[in-house]
This record gives sequence, structure tokens and C-alpha cells, in this order.
Amino acid sequence: MSLFDKFQNTATLYNSLLEETGRDPFGVSMDEMKGPTRAMVKGKEIVLAGTNNYLGLTYDDAAIAAAKEALEQSGTGTTGSRFANGTYAGHRQLEEDLAAFLGYKHCMVFSTGYQANLGAIAALAQPPHDVILIDADCHACIYDGCQLSGAETIRFRHNDPTSLDKRLSRLGDDVKGKLVCFEGMYSMFGDVAPVKELVEVAHKHGAYALLDEAHSFGVFGDHGRGVCERDGVLDDVDFYTGTFSKSLASIGGFVASNHPELEFLRFSSRPYMFTASPSPANIAAASAALARLKADDSMRTALWDNAKRVHAAFTQLGFDLAAPMSPVIAVKLSGREEAFMAWNFLMEHGVYVNLAIPPGTPNATSILRLSVSAAHTNEDLDAIINAYTALSELLSEKAAHA
Ligand SMILES: Cc1ncc(COP(=O)(O)O)c(C=O)c1O
Repeated sequence: MSLFDKFQNTATLYNSLLEETGRDPFGVSMDEMKGPTRAMVKGKEIVLAGTNNYLGLTYDDAAIAAAKEALEQSGTGTTGSRFANGTYAGHRQLEEDLAAFLGYKHCMVFSTGYQANLGAIAALAQPPHDVILIDADCHACIYDGCQLSGAETIRFRHNDPTSLDKRLSRLGDDVKGKLVCFEGMYSMFGDVAPVKELVEVAHKHGAYALLDEAHSFGVFGDHGRGVCERDGVLDDVDFYTGTFSKSLASIGGFVASNHPELEFLRFSSRPYMFTASPSPANIAAASAALARLKADDSMRTALWDNAKRVHAAFTQLGFDLAAPMSPVIAVKLSGREEAFMAWNFLMEHGVYVNLAIPPGTPNATSILRLSVSAAHTNEDLDAIINAYTALSELLSEKAAHA
């Protein structure tokens, strides 16, 4: 019995995909970037339509200038954790700016969004008396946070406040702390949570609500504060987690809260204490992107206009779409093989999207996940729609001959 036996099934599938086309859907190398929405891949210019670059800020002049200045002034890396020598003025300033933007009193910056969720959940909920309730479709980092915590974890049905209500009602009197975790917009299908109802149910049972707005920060709400702003419950969320790796076009993550106890996580959250802090350039870029997000609503308007155009075109083409219109547009396919064939076909037609297949997807669905950006030009959108039009013709032909 070898340590490596467990990889056999994955290796067989992976190798067969590679053999068929010579392309690795999970290891595409952007050989040369041509801007926020284009890259050279194996000598061919590709339109990027699976990047999470919602506001298109990765090439923003102000963010690049701020990152360069930070690099010159503060060096390439902090060489230490937030807890030790890795807190610079920029980290503190960004915490203050994020707290002020969201209207919370406290904010902690982590090295990634993954670590923000891991660090918040594991520090807040502890065995044997705390219980975590999570939406079944939560991101891996929320699941991993539960594992690291070791507290009893109960899943409730995706986006279902009644299911959450039932599970909270059944908890015994010995349970002390209850933490309910869910997301604003879900990354795979682009579906949006009933945030108001979930927060209300959590509070009715004396539970705390942790909302991950990784994909919805900058995207939803009149000011880009997320689904909870849109639903009017920003003040009611107990712990708001987010990332710099999507709308803020950098790398890093954060947790914000009105609970003063959040500050104690600086001494108890292992993913905060035992990893190096984000580099000064990353922090400066995120700060500049936040300033742009606050000052300029037109990026959000462009994002939604682009999303509407692509969603309408795909609906007209008759694709089976996983959710109502949002900047994440997932096309469902009949299985892994068809999804891979379709992904490869789009690459041949100059469009990169994310291939998502089980076990990484909800309900074992195979999808092509497209994320729209404010930076997509009309030419980019035409290229995307043309490639999907050709794909829909191919799928119809195949269905006719099946
Ligand atoms: C819902 C959700 N939370 C957290 C993360 C982690 O963010 P980061 O890339 O900053 O680690 C992701 C990343 O895709 C995500 O989709």
C-alpha cells in the first residue's frame, strides 16, 4: 500500500484529458499578459473570461504607481507575520480604510482571503461547546476553517434559511457559541444568498453570522459593499470576510466586525500569527484599488452592463445556465467529458474560461464558469459570444447525431 495509491484515479483522468488535446485545463500558463483581459497562451492571444477581475483593476495606473512606490520604499517582502515584524504602516492603514468603508469598528488584514476565513472561524469556534453551521456550498476555506477549529460542524441546505432554522432549533442546551457561515455571491454558479433572511435566522437563535463577500465585495450594493449592503443588513453581520484577490486586484484578505473581541484574534488566530504578512506592494495596490472603488461607480456599472450582455446572449443561445444573471455565468454541461471538450473548444476559439468539474462543484455538476470584468471591451465580449455561439452549434450537432 503506497502513499500515492490515492492519486491513481485523478492521475488516470488527468492524463486522459492531457492526451486528448495536449492542454491542461488546470495549469494554463499565461505566458505573457497583454492587459486585464488578454494574454498570450502558447503563442496565441486569448480573451480572459475566467479571472475574477470584476472591476478590471489589475492594470490600474494608480494601483501600479502605489505598488511601485511601496516596493521602492518598503522593499519586496515583510519577512514576518502580522504578529511579529510583518505589520507595516500600510497594513494598519488598509485595516482602517476597510473598516471605515464598510462602517465597522474593527478590521484585520490577513495574507489571503483563504487565511482570513480559516483564521476567523478556527479562532472563534472551539470544541467542545461551540457549533458551526455552514451553507453546504461554502468555499473550501470555510470548510477548512471548520476542520482547523475542530468544533462540531453542521451543514444546512444551500441558500435555505428554513433549513438553517431547523438545524439551529435542534441544538442542545449545552451548546455555548453558535457561528453561522455563508457567502454573498457563490463563486461557482454566481448565485446570490438570501443574506437578510440568513442573518435574521442566525440572530433569532442567538448565533453569530459570518458572511464571506469574497466575490461580491465591489460588485453588489450601491457603494460596492457587497450583498449585505444591497439587502440593508451590513450593520447586522457579525463578521464580514473578504479578499483582495478579486475586485481589489491584489492578494490578501480581511475580516471586519463591530465586535471589539475581533482584536483578540491577533493573539489567537494561527493563520494570522504564523504566516508572513502580504508584501508592501500588494497592500499598496489593494489600498489604491479600494480608493478607486470608492471614487468611481462607473466600473461597477460597466461590470453589470457587460454581465447583462453576456447573460442575455447565452440565454438566447439556449445554454443551461446555473443561476440568474450575475457577473459569474456558469454553463452546465452533461458531464466531465463534455465539459472538458467544450473548454478545449473555447480555448481553440481564443477564449479562456474556468473548467469546473466534480468533486469541486455543487451537486456534482460539470460547468464552464465565466466571470465578466468591467475591463472587457466590446471586442472582448464579441469574441466571447462568438466562441460560445460556435460551441452551441457544435453541441446541437452532437445532440442531433447522438
Ligand atoms: C468564497 C471565497 N472565499 C475566499 C476565497 C479565498 O480568497 P483568496 O484568493 O484571497 O485566498 C475564495 C477564492 O476563490 C472564495 O471564492
